[in-house]
Amino acid sequence: MVDVSNDSQSVETLRWRDGRLEMIDQRVLPARFEYLPYSSASEVAEGIRSMVVRGAPAIGCAAAYGVALESLALRQASREAFVAGMEKGFEVLAASRPTAVNLFWALKRMREVWEANKQGTVDEIVDRLLAEAHEVSAEDVRINRAMGAYGAALLPDGARVLTHCNAGALATAGHGTALGVFRSAVEAGKRISVIADETRPFLQGARLTAWEMVQEKIPVTLITDNMAGHLMSRGEIDAVVVGTDRVAANGDVANKIGTYMVAVLAQRHGIPFYVACPLSTIDLAIPDGTAIPIEERSADEVTGFRECQWAAEGVQIRNPAFDVTPAELVTALITEKGVVTQPNRENIAALFAS
Ligand code: MRU
Repeated sequence: MVDVSNDSQSVETLRWRDGRLEMIDQRVLPARFEYLPYSSASEVAEGIRSMVVRGAPAIGCAAAYGVALESLALRQASREAFVAGMEKGFEVLAASRPTAVNLFWALKRMREVWEANKQGTVDEIVDRLLAEAHEVSAEDVRINRAMGAYGAALLPDGARVLTHCNAGALATAGHGTALGVFRSAVEAGKRISVIADETRPFLQGARLTAWEMVQEKIPVTLITDNMAGHLMSRGEIDAVVVGTDRVAANGDVANKIGTYMVAVLAQRHGIPFYVACPLSTIDLAIPDGTAIPIEERSADEVTGFRECQWAAEGVQIRNPAFDVTPAELVTALITEKGVVTQPNRENIAALFAS
């Protein structure tokens, strides 16, 4: 078994080593556990686009480091080239993936530090940006632990909980959002068993969630996505907890493709549907889910996996990577500021007012 422990008791998705960023290559898990090195904004952007790193909070953390790395890479440049290079770095990172708002949230935060320190020496700029990137990651773990505590209280002892995609330590700087709720519940002495949707087409459930849970000996059962309704109809699922990539101001939730289907099924069977959602994932500028940009990824992800291609040549392909669950299907958002039941425009706005 791989030693993945850090101070958050879970896998270290991103780490700073010898003046560069290292990220676990999530494309090759669970067959291989290896870190890849990153030294510039464009390298990090490519790591996000190709899903070496994925999951909304982890994408935000990676982007923050991408900005800091760019300042380091430009250290010897003229002042003019330094400023132009930094702007290019922000641009290339912002273009990496469209749906997870944490990317833009982290870039905004890094831009504020950049703008505030622009007149300083290059060393000062590098130091400030790097300190901020470290803080974005450290804060993410603290937030996940707070959400975990609130979420754990919602789960009864012995709960069998379904999750979709991977909202675990691998999707964050540590502990995870949805899987953080499970971890916290287990730490609190509750017996929790996890049902992991495989999560077509990129298999984050089968490859990542199952791996994380097995590493920590939290009981986990893998199912294909089309099995969830059957298990619900047999009374084998007590709750659903998922993560999210962007929540609109009215509480509509964008998450991995297939989440909407799970939410509809949960409502049909009277099963609570919880969304673990740090405030950095709420986008008040988006009035409702119809305005959330949905990434369309490459056809290759649908026609096969790695070397194995199974679809007929010449077939047309759609590959929307996310869908939107209307707020009315969400039992509660679990945030670091507490649980918001039946999310709507008013109770979401109130989260930011206090
Ligand atoms: O395409 P991915 O793997 O980046 O999608 C990830 C998800 O949909 C997660 O559920 C979401 O980002 C929340 S992660 C805490």
